[in-house]
Amino acid sequence: RAKPVGRLELIRIIYRNPLELWGEPSYNEPWIEVDWMGMHTIIANDPGLIRHVLVDNAKNYRMAAVRQRILRPILRDGLLTAEGEVWKRSRKAMAPVFTPRHIHGFAKAMQERSKAFAERYETPGLVTDVARDMTLLTYDILADTLFSGEIAGEPGQFAKEIDNLFETMGRVDPLDLLGAPQWLPRFTQIRGRRSLAFFRKIVADTVAMRKVRMAKGDDVPNDFLTLLLKTEGPDGLTRAEIEDNIITFIGAGHETTARALGWTLYLLAEAPWERDIVEAEIDGFMRSGPVPPHQWLDRLPLTRAAFEEAMRLYPPAPSLNREAVEDDRYRDLKIEKGSTVLAMPWTIHRHRLYWENPDAFIPARFHPENRGKIDRFQYLPFGAGPRVCIGASFALQEGVIALAALLSRYRFDTVSQTKPWPVQKLTTQPQGGLPMKVTPRR
Ligand code: HEM
Repeated sequence: RAKPVGRLELIRIIYRNPLELWGEPSYNEPWIEVDWMGMHTIIANDPGLIRHVLVDNAKNYRMAAVRQRILRPILRDGLLTAEGEVWKRSRKAMAPVFTPRHIHGFAKAMQERSKAFAERYETPGLVTDVARDMTLLTYDILADTLFSGEIAGEPGQFAKEIDNLFETMGRVDPLDLLGAPQWLPRFTQIRGRRSLAFFRKIVADTVAMRKVRMAKGDDVPNDFLTLLLKTEGPDGLTRAEIEDNIITFIGAGHETTARALGWTLYLLAEAPWERDIVEAEIDGFMRSGPVPPHQWLDRLPLTRAAFEEAMRLYPPAPSLNREAVEDDRYRDLKIEKGSTVLAMPWTIHRHRLYWENPDAFIPARFHPENRGKIDRFQYLPFGAGPRVCIGASFALQEGVIALAALLSRYRFDTVSQTKPWPVQKLTTQPQGGLPMKVTPRR
Protein backbone atom coordinates (compact mmCIF):
# COMPACT_ATOMS: atom_id res chain seq x y z
CA ARG A 1 0.00 0.00 0.00
CA ALA A 2 1.11 3.55 -0.63
CA LYS A 3 0.05 6.69 1.15
CA PRO A 4 0.82 10.07 -0.41
CA VAL A 5 1.74 13.02 1.80
CA GLY A 6 0.48 16.44 0.63
CA ARG A 7 2.99 19.11 -0.35
CA LEU A 8 1.89 21.71 2.21
CA GLU A 9 1.88 19.12 4.96
CA LEU A 10 5.43 18.15 3.94
CA ILE A 11 6.74 21.74 4.12
CA ARG A 12 5.17 22.11 7.55
CA ILE A 13 6.80 18.87 8.79
CA ILE A 14 10.25 19.63 7.37
CA TYR A 15 10.28 23.01 9.08
CA ARG A 16 9.08 21.64 12.41
CA ASN A 17 11.07 18.43 12.72
CA PRO A 18 11.64 15.87 9.94
CA LEU A 19 11.34 13.07 12.50
CA GLU A 20 7.61 13.72 12.33
CA LEU A 21 7.72 12.58 8.74
CA TRP A 22 8.20 9.19 10.28
CA GLY A 23 5.32 9.69 12.71
CA GLU A 24 2.13 7.68 13.11
CA PRO A 25 1.58 6.73 9.42
CA SER A 26 5.02 5.08 9.36
CA TYR A 27 3.82 2.59 11.94
CA ASN A 28 0.73 1.63 9.95
CA GLU A 29 2.06 1.57 6.39
CA PRO A 30 4.89 -0.62 5.08
CA TRP A 31 5.92 2.28 2.87
CA ILE A 32 4.89 5.87 2.21
CA GLU A 33 5.37 7.67 -1.10
CA VAL A 34 6.18 11.37 -1.23
CA ASP A 35 6.45 13.57 -4.34
CA TRP A 36 8.51 16.69 -3.89
CA MET A 37 9.77 19.13 -6.54
CA GLY A 38 9.88 16.36 -9.14
CA MET A 39 11.61 13.91 -6.76
CA HIS A 40 9.85 10.69 -5.88
CA THR A 41 10.73 9.38 -2.41
CA ILE A 42 9.65 6.08 -0.84
CA ILE A 43 9.93 5.89 2.93
CA ALA A 44 10.48 2.18 3.66
CA ASN A 45 9.28 0.94 7.05
CA ASP A 46 9.01 -2.72 6.11
CA PRO A 47 11.93 -5.11 6.87
CA GLY A 48 11.23 -7.03 3.63
CA LEU A 49 11.47 -3.89 1.48
CA ILE A 50 14.59 -2.74 3.36
CA ARG A 51 16.20 -6.13 2.80
CA HIS A 52 15.26 -5.95 -0.90
CA VAL A 53 16.92 -2.54 -1.33
CA LEU A 54 20.00 -2.96 0.89
CA VAL A 55 20.80 -6.62 0.23
CA ASP A 56 18.82 -8.73 -2.26
CA ASN A 57 18.78 -6.19 -5.10
CA ALA A 58 21.56 -3.92 -3.75
CA LYS A 59 23.21 -3.76 -7.18
CA ASN A 60 20.26 -1.70 -8.45
CA TYR A 61 20.80 1.02 -5.83
CA ARG A 62 23.39 3.70 -5.22
CA MET A 63 23.75 6.31 -2.48
CA ALA A 64 20.96 8.88 -2.88
CA ALA A 65 21.84 12.10 -4.70
CA VAL A 66 20.83 14.33 -1.77
CA ARG A 67 23.29 12.60 0.57
CA GLN A 68 26.02 12.63 -2.07
CA ARG A 69 25.52 16.39 -2.55
CA ILE A 70 26.05 16.99 1.15
CA LEU A 71 28.86 14.53 1.80
CA ARG A 72 30.82 14.09 -1.42
CA PRO A 73 32.46 17.53 -1.40
CA ILE A 74 34.02 16.54 1.95
CA LEU A 75 34.56 12.80 1.68
CA ARG A 76 35.16 12.51 -2.10
CA ASP A 77 36.18 8.92 -2.93
CA GLY A 78 36.18 7.74 0.68
CA LEU A 79 34.29 4.46 1.18
CA LEU A 80 31.02 6.06 2.32
CA THR A 81 30.58 8.19 -0.82
CA ALA A 82 32.48 6.09 -3.41
CA GLU A 83 30.46 4.22 -6.04
CA GLY A 84 30.98 1.44 -8.60
CA GLU A 85 34.47 0.11 -9.23
CA VAL A 86 36.18 2.59 -6.88
CA TRP A 87 33.94 1.45 -4.00
CA LYS A 88 34.46 -2.25 -4.82
CA ARG A 89 38.26 -1.99 -4.97
CA SER A 90 38.40 0.21 -1.85
CA ARG A 91 36.13 -2.02 0.25
CA LYS A 92 38.25 -5.08 -0.69
CA ALA A 93 41.53 -3.27 0.00
CA MET A 94 40.27 -2.01 3.37
CA ALA A 95 38.79 -5.27 4.68
CA PRO A 96 42.17 -6.32 6.20
CA VAL A 97 42.39 -2.99 8.06
CA PHE A 98 39.26 -3.87 10.07
CA THR A 99 40.12 -7.47 11.10
CA PRO A 100 39.51 -8.41 14.77
CA ARG A 101 43.29 -8.48 15.33
CA HIS A 102 43.65 -4.82 14.33
CA ILE A 103 40.47 -3.73 16.14
CA HIS A 104 41.77 -5.43 19.31
CA GLY A 105 45.03 -3.56 18.79
CA PHE A 106 43.11 -0.26 19.20
CA ALA A 107 41.54 -1.25 22.55
CA LYS A 108 44.39 0.02 24.71
CA ALA A 109 44.28 3.49 23.11
CA MET A 110 40.49 3.56 23.63
CA GLN A 111 40.86 2.73 27.31
CA GLU A 112 43.72 5.18 27.94
CA ARG A 113 42.01 8.06 26.11
CA SER A 114 38.73 7.45 27.97
CA LYS A 115 40.49 7.31 31.33
CA ALA A 116 42.46 10.50 30.66
CA PHE A 117 39.33 12.25 29.36
CA ALA A 118 37.35 11.36 32.49
CA GLU A 119 39.75 13.40 34.66
CA ARG A 120 37.75 16.53 33.78
CA TYR A 121 34.81 15.14 35.74
CA GLU A 122 36.68 15.52 39.06
CA THR A 123 35.32 19.09 39.37
CA PRO A 124 32.79 19.08 42.26
CA GLY A 125 29.15 19.84 41.35
CA LEU A 126 29.88 19.68 37.64
CA VAL A 127 27.02 20.13 35.19
CA THR A 128 28.24 19.54 31.65
CA ASP A 129 26.91 18.97 28.14
CA VAL A 130 27.60 15.26 27.81
CA ALA A 131 26.71 15.28 24.09
CA ARG A 132 29.52 17.75 23.45
CA ASP A 133 31.87 15.86 25.80
CA MET A 134 31.34 12.60 23.92
CA THR A 135 32.16 14.38 20.66
CA LEU A 136 35.48 15.45 22.22
CA LEU A 137 36.17 11.98 23.64
CA THR A 138 35.50 10.13 20.37
CA TYR A 139 37.69 12.70 18.64
CA ASP A 140 40.56 11.95 21.09
CA ILE A 141 40.15 8.22 20.44
CA LEU A 142 40.09 8.69 16.67
CA ALA A 143 43.14 10.99 16.66
CA ASP A 144 45.03 8.32 18.59
CA THR A 145 43.87 5.30 16.57
CA LEU A 146 44.21 7.11 13.23
CA PHE A 147 47.56 8.82 13.66
CA SER A 148 48.83 7.99 17.18
CA GLY A 149 48.82 11.76 17.71
CA GLU A 150 51.44 12.32 14.94
CA ILE A 151 49.53 15.09 13.17
CA ALA A 152 51.09 17.81 10.98
CA GLY A 153 50.56 21.48 11.83
CA GLU A 154 50.24 23.40 15.08
CA PRO A 155 49.06 21.41 18.14
CA GLY A 156 45.29 21.67 18.52
CA GLN A 157 44.81 23.06 15.01
CA PHE A 158 43.50 19.79 13.56
CA ALA A 159 40.85 19.40 16.29
CA LYS A 160 39.74 22.99 15.75
CA GLU A 161 39.41 22.50 11.99
CA ILE A 162 37.38 19.30 12.44
CA ASP A 163 34.99 21.21 14.64
CA ASN A 164 34.66 24.06 12.14
CA LEU A 165 34.25 21.72 9.23
CA PHE A 166 31.53 19.52 10.66
CA GLU A 167 29.73 22.47 12.23
CA THR A 168 29.22 23.87 8.75
CA MET A 169 29.60 21.27 6.02
CA GLY A 170 27.98 18.31 7.79
CA ARG A 171 24.74 20.27 7.92
CA VAL A 172 21.80 19.61 5.64
CA ASP A 173 21.30 22.73 3.55
CA PRO A 174 17.68 23.87 3.05
CA LEU A 175 18.41 23.98 -0.71
CA ASP A 176 19.15 20.23 -0.64
CA LEU A 177 15.86 19.50 1.08
CA LEU A 178 14.12 21.50 -1.64
CA GLY A 179 15.94 19.57 -4.38
CA ALA A 180 17.59 22.72 -5.84
CA PRO A 181 19.98 22.08 -8.76
CA GLN A 182 23.59 21.09 -8.01
CA TRP A 183 25.12 24.26 -9.54
CA LEU A 184 23.39 26.57 -7.03
CA PRO A 185 25.94 27.36 -4.29
CA ARG A 186 24.93 26.10 -0.83
CA PHE A 187 25.26 28.55 2.04
CA THR A 188 26.57 25.79 4.35
CA GLN A 189 29.26 24.81 1.84
CA ILE A 190 30.45 28.37 1.26
CA ARG A 191 31.02 28.75 5.01
CA GLY A 192 32.82 25.41 5.26
CA ARG A 193 35.01 25.73 2.16
CA ARG A 194 37.98 27.47 3.80
CA SER A 195 37.92 24.98 6.64
CA LEU A 196 37.84 22.09 4.21
CA ALA A 197 40.89 23.30 2.28
CA PHE A 198 42.84 23.76 5.50
CA PHE A 199 41.77 20.40 6.84
CA ARG A 200 42.71 18.58 3.63
CA LYS A 201 46.17 20.15 3.71
CA ILE A 202 46.80 18.93 7.28
CA VAL A 203 45.64 15.40 6.34
CA ALA A 204 47.84 15.36 3.20
CA ASP A 205 50.89 16.59 5.20
CA THR A 206 50.25 14.03 7.95
CA VAL A 207 50.06 11.19 5.41
CA ALA A 208 53.21 12.39 3.62
CA MET A 209 55.10 12.67 6.93
CA ARG A 210 54.27 9.08 7.86
CA LYS A 211 55.12 7.82 4.37
CA VAL A 212 58.59 9.32 4.66
CA ARG A 213 59.10 7.60 8.01
CA MET A 214 57.96 4.27 6.58
CA ALA A 215 60.27 4.65 3.57
CA LYS A 216 63.21 5.28 5.93
CA GLY A 217 62.38 2.01 7.73
CA ASP A 218 61.47 3.80 11.00
CA ASP A 219 59.50 1.89 13.60
CA VAL A 220 56.01 3.32 12.98
CA PRO A 221 52.86 2.74 15.09
CA ASN A 222 50.34 0.17 13.82
CA ASP A 223 47.49 2.70 13.58
CA PHE A 224 44.88 3.25 10.83
CA LEU A 225 47.29 5.49 8.89
CA THR A 226 50.03 2.85 8.69
CA LEU A 227 47.46 0.15 7.85
CA LEU A 228 45.95 2.29 5.09
CA LEU A 229 49.36 3.20 3.66
CA LYS A 230 50.16 -0.51 3.44
CA THR A 231 47.21 -0.87 1.02
CA GLU A 232 48.69 1.73 -1.37
CA GLY A 233 49.23 0.29 -4.86
CA PRO A 234 47.54 -0.75 -8.13
CA ASP A 235 45.02 -3.16 -6.51
CA GLY A 236 44.70 -1.11 -3.35
CA LEU A 237 44.15 2.57 -2.64
CA THR A 238 45.71 5.60 -4.31
CA ARG A 239 47.30 8.28 -2.10
CA ALA A 240 44.30 10.58 -2.68
CA GLU A 241 41.91 7.77 -1.67
CA ILE A 242 43.89 7.16 1.52
CA GLU A 243 43.44 10.84 2.39
CA ASP A 244 39.72 10.66 1.51
CA ASN A 245 39.30 7.62 3.74
CA ILE A 246 40.99 9.24 6.69
CA ILE A 247 38.52 12.10 6.39
CA THR A 248 35.73 9.52 5.94
CA PHE A 249 36.68 7.64 9.12
CA ILE A 250 36.49 10.94 10.98
CA GLY A 251 33.20 11.87 9.30
CA ALA A 252 31.57 8.44 9.69
CA GLY A 253 33.06 7.33 12.99
CA HIS A 254 33.23 10.42 15.16
CA GLU A 255 29.75 11.96 15.59
CA THR A 256 28.01 8.58 15.24
CA THR A 257 29.84 6.94 18.15
CA ALA A 258 29.59 10.16 20.17
CA ARG A 259 25.81 10.25 19.70
CA ALA A 260 25.46 6.58 20.71
CA LEU A 261 27.54 7.16 23.87
CA GLY A 262 25.68 10.33 24.84
CA TRP A 263 22.26 8.73 24.40
CA THR A 264 23.36 5.67 26.43
CA LEU A 265 24.43 7.86 29.37
CA TYR A 266 21.20 9.84 29.11
CA LEU A 267 18.92 6.77 28.96
CA LEU A 268 20.74 5.08 31.85
CA ALA A 269 20.28 8.22 33.95
CA GLU A 270 16.57 8.30 33.10
CA ALA A 271 16.25 4.62 34.14
CA PRO A 272 18.35 4.35 37.35
CA TRP A 273 17.25 0.71 37.88
CA GLU A 274 19.00 -0.12 34.57
CA ARG A 275 21.99 2.03 35.54
CA ASP A 276 22.32 -0.03 38.76
CA ILE A 277 22.63 -3.21 36.67
CA VAL A 278 25.33 -1.73 34.42
CA GLU A 279 27.27 -0.14 37.29
CA ALA A 280 27.18 -3.45 39.22
CA GLU A 281 28.56 -5.32 36.22
CA ILE A 282 31.35 -2.77 35.71
CA ASP A 283 32.22 -2.63 39.44
CA GLY A 284 32.47 -6.45 39.64
CA PHE A 285 34.59 -6.50 36.51
CA MET A 286 36.98 -3.80 37.79
CA ARG A 287 37.35 -5.62 41.12
CA SER A 288 38.19 -8.91 39.39
CA GLY A 289 41.67 -7.59 38.56
CA PRO A 290 43.25 -6.15 35.41
CA VAL A 291 41.81 -7.47 32.13
CA PRO A 292 43.38 -6.45 28.77
CA PRO A 293 41.08 -3.81 27.17
CA HIS A 294 40.50 -5.91 24.03
CA GLN A 295 38.57 -8.39 26.21
CA TRP A 296 36.28 -5.77 27.75
CA LEU A 297 33.62 -6.00 25.05
CA ASP A 298 33.12 -9.74 25.66
CA ARG A 299 33.41 -9.46 29.41
CA LEU A 300 30.81 -6.69 29.81
CA PRO A 301 27.69 -8.07 28.03
CA LEU A 302 25.21 -6.00 30.07
CA THR A 303 27.06 -2.76 29.35
CA ARG A 304 27.12 -3.67 25.68
CA ALA A 305 23.37 -4.38 25.85
CA ALA A 306 22.68 -0.86 27.21
CA PHE A 307 24.75 0.65 24.38
CA GLU A 308 22.90 -1.42 21.75
CA GLU A 309 19.49 -0.62 23.25
CA ALA A 310 20.35 3.10 23.16
CA MET A 311 21.15 2.73 19.44
CA ARG A 312 17.75 1.05 18.98
CA LEU A 313 15.90 4.03 20.46
CA TYR A 314 18.23 6.66 18.99
CA PRO A 315 19.99 5.16 15.95
CA PRO A 316 22.82 7.61 15.13
CA ALA A 317 21.96 7.08 11.44
CA PRO A 318 18.13 7.28 11.50
CA SER A 319 17.67 6.69 7.75
CA LEU A 320 19.71 5.02 5.01
CA ASN A 321 19.24 6.75 1.69
CA ARG A 322 19.37 4.99 -1.68
CA GLU A 323 18.49 5.84 -5.27
CA ALA A 324 17.17 3.30 -7.83
CA VAL A 325 19.48 2.96 -10.84
CA GLU A 326 16.84 1.12 -12.93
CA ASP A 327 13.08 0.49 -12.55
CA ASP A 328 12.42 -2.07 -9.84
CA ARG A 329 9.46 -3.70 -8.11
CA TYR A 330 8.85 -5.01 -4.63
CA ARG A 331 5.52 -6.84 -4.21
CA ASP A 332 2.95 -4.31 -5.54
CA LEU A 333 5.29 -1.31 -5.14
CA LYS A 334 6.73 0.14 -8.34
CA ILE A 335 10.13 1.75 -7.72
CA GLU A 336 10.92 3.90 -10.71
CA LYS A 337 14.45 4.65 -11.87
CA GLY A 338 15.73 7.74 -10.02
CA SER A 339 13.37 7.31 -7.05
CA THR A 340 14.86 7.74 -3.60
CA VAL A 341 14.25 5.00 -1.04
CA LEU A 342 14.77 5.85 2.62
CA ALA A 343 15.31 2.65 4.63
CA MET A 344 14.27 3.62 8.13
CA PRO A 345 16.08 2.18 11.19
CA TRP A 346 14.23 4.89 13.14
CA THR A 347 10.77 3.40 12.57
CA ILE A 348 11.81 -0.27 12.39
CA HIS A 349 13.49 0.13 15.80
CA ARG A 350 10.28 1.51 17.35
CA HIS A 351 7.70 -0.61 15.56
CA ARG A 352 5.02 -2.35 17.65
CA LEU A 353 5.07 -5.31 15.26
CA TYR A 354 8.70 -6.13 16.04
CA TRP A 355 9.30 -4.88 19.60
CA GLU A 356 7.31 -5.24 22.78
CA ASN A 357 6.86 -1.94 24.57
CA PRO A 358 8.92 -0.29 21.79
CA ASP A 359 9.38 3.17 23.33
CA ALA A 360 10.80 1.84 26.62
CA PHE A 361 14.53 1.54 27.32
CA ILE A 362 14.95 -2.19 28.09
CA PRO A 363 18.59 -3.31 27.62
CA ALA A 364 17.60 -6.91 28.52
CA ARG A 365 16.43 -7.24 24.90
CA PHE A 366 20.12 -7.45 24.03
CA HIS A 367 21.27 -9.67 26.92
CA PRO A 368 23.09 -12.74 25.59
CA GLU A 369 20.15 -15.10 26.21
CA ASN A 370 17.77 -12.83 24.20
CA ARG A 371 19.81 -11.51 21.31
CA GLY A 372 19.11 -14.62 19.18
CA LYS A 373 15.45 -13.55 19.07
CA ILE A 374 16.24 -10.31 17.21
CA ASP A 375 15.82 -10.56 13.45
CA ARG A 376 18.64 -9.18 11.26
CA PHE A 377 16.31 -6.63 9.60
CA GLN A 378 14.61 -5.56 12.79
CA TYR A 379 17.73 -3.85 14.17
CA LEU A 380 19.90 -1.85 11.76
CA PRO A 381 22.09 0.71 13.55
CA PHE A 382 24.99 -0.20 11.26
CA GLY A 383 22.93 -0.82 8.10
CA ALA A 384 23.04 -4.11 6.18
CA GLY A 385 24.27 -5.66 2.96
CA PRO A 386 27.41 -4.84 0.98
CA ARG A 387 27.54 -1.27 2.37
CA VAL A 388 27.13 -2.25 6.01
CA CYS A 389 29.27 -0.13 8.37
CA ILE A 390 32.88 -1.26 8.09
CA GLY A 391 33.64 0.27 11.51
CA ALA A 392 30.87 -1.53 13.46
CA SER A 393 33.14 -3.71 15.61
CA PHE A 394 35.48 -0.74 16.23
CA ALA A 395 32.48 1.32 17.39
CA LEU A 396 31.06 -1.40 19.66
CA GLN A 397 34.43 -1.97 21.30
CA GLU A 398 34.94 1.78 21.71
CA GLY A 399 31.45 2.27 23.16
CA VAL A 400 31.82 -0.43 25.82
CA ILE A 401 35.35 0.55 26.82
CA ALA A 402 34.42 4.24 27.11
CA LEU A 403 31.27 3.44 29.14
CA ALA A 404 33.24 1.17 31.50
CA ALA A 405 35.96 3.80 31.98
CA LEU A 406 33.41 6.57 32.67
CA LEU A 407 30.79 4.69 34.71
CA SER A 408 33.34 2.93 36.94
CA ARG A 409 34.27 6.35 38.34
CA TYR A 410 31.35 8.72 37.78
CA ARG A 411 27.59 8.82 38.02
CA PHE A 412 25.67 10.70 35.35
CA ASP A 413 22.30 12.26 36.24
CA THR A 414 19.98 14.21 33.96
CA VAL A 415 19.13 17.80 34.80
CA SER A 416 16.51 18.21 32.06
CA GLN A 417 14.72 16.13 29.47
CA THR A 418 15.55 16.32 25.81
CA LYS A 419 14.29 15.11 22.46
CA PRO A 420 16.08 14.17 19.27
CA TRP A 421 16.27 16.83 16.60
CA PRO A 422 18.21 15.76 13.50
CA VAL A 423 17.12 18.72 11.38
CA GLN A 424 20.46 20.36 10.83
CA LYS A 425 22.86 17.46 11.02
CA LEU A 426 22.98 13.96 9.61
CA THR A 427 23.01 12.15 12.96
CA THR A 428 20.27 11.94 15.63
CA GLN A 429 21.04 15.00 17.77
CA PRO A 430 19.65 15.87 21.18
CA GLN A 431 17.91 19.24 21.08
CA GLY A 432 19.93 21.66 23.21
CA GLY A 433 22.61 19.05 24.02
CA LEU A 434 22.57 16.64 26.97
CA PRO A 435 23.22 18.71 30.10
CA MET A 436 24.00 16.27 32.94
CA LYS A 437 25.31 16.37 36.48
CA VAL A 438 28.45 14.27 36.92
CA THR A 439 29.47 13.11 40.40
CA PRO A 440 32.43 10.93 41.43
CA ARG A 441 31.30 7.48 42.66
CA ARG A 442 33.45 6.74 45.68
C1 HEM B 1 28.76 3.00 6.92
C2 HEM B 1 26.55 3.59 11.22
C3 HEM B 1 30.89 4.00 13.40
C4 HEM B 1 33.04 3.93 9.06
C5 HEM B 1 27.81 3.07 7.92
C6 HEM B 1 26.39 2.84 7.73
C7 HEM B 1 25.78 3.03 8.92
C8 HEM B 1 26.80 3.34 9.89
C9 HEM B 1 24.29 2.93 9.21
C10 HEM B 1 25.72 2.43 6.41
C11 HEM B 1 25.25 3.64 5.66
C12 HEM B 1 24.38 3.25 4.47
O1 HEM B 1 24.13 2.09 4.20
O2 HEM B 1 23.90 4.20 3.82
C13 HEM B 1 27.55 3.77 12.18
C14 HEM B 1 27.29 3.92 13.59
C15 HEM B 1 28.51 4.03 14.21
C16 HEM B 1 29.53 3.95 13.17
C17 HEM B 1 25.92 3.94 14.23
C18 HEM B 1 28.84 4.22 15.66
C19 HEM B 1 28.06 3.89 16.66
C20 HEM B 1 31.86 3.96 12.41
C21 HEM B 1 33.28 4.03 12.65
C22 HEM B 1 33.89 4.02 11.42
C23 HEM B 1 32.83 3.95 10.42
C24 HEM B 1 33.94 4.10 14.02
C25 HEM B 1 35.36 4.08 11.05
C26 HEM B 1 36.37 3.98 11.82
C27 HEM B 1 32.05 3.71 8.12
C28 HEM B 1 32.32 3.64 6.70
C29 HEM B 1 31.08 3.37 6.08
C30 HEM B 1 30.09 3.27 7.14
C31 HEM B 1 33.66 3.85 6.02
C32 HEM B 1 30.83 3.19 4.57
C33 HEM B 1 30.86 1.71 4.21
C34 HEM B 1 30.59 1.44 2.74
O3 HEM B 1 29.83 2.18 2.13
O4 HEM B 1 31.15 0.47 2.23
N1 HEM B 1 28.03 3.36 9.26
N2 HEM B 1 28.90 3.81 11.96
N3 HEM B 1 31.62 3.91 11.06
N4 HEM B 1 30.72 3.48 8.36
FE1 HEM B 1 29.83 3.51 10.17
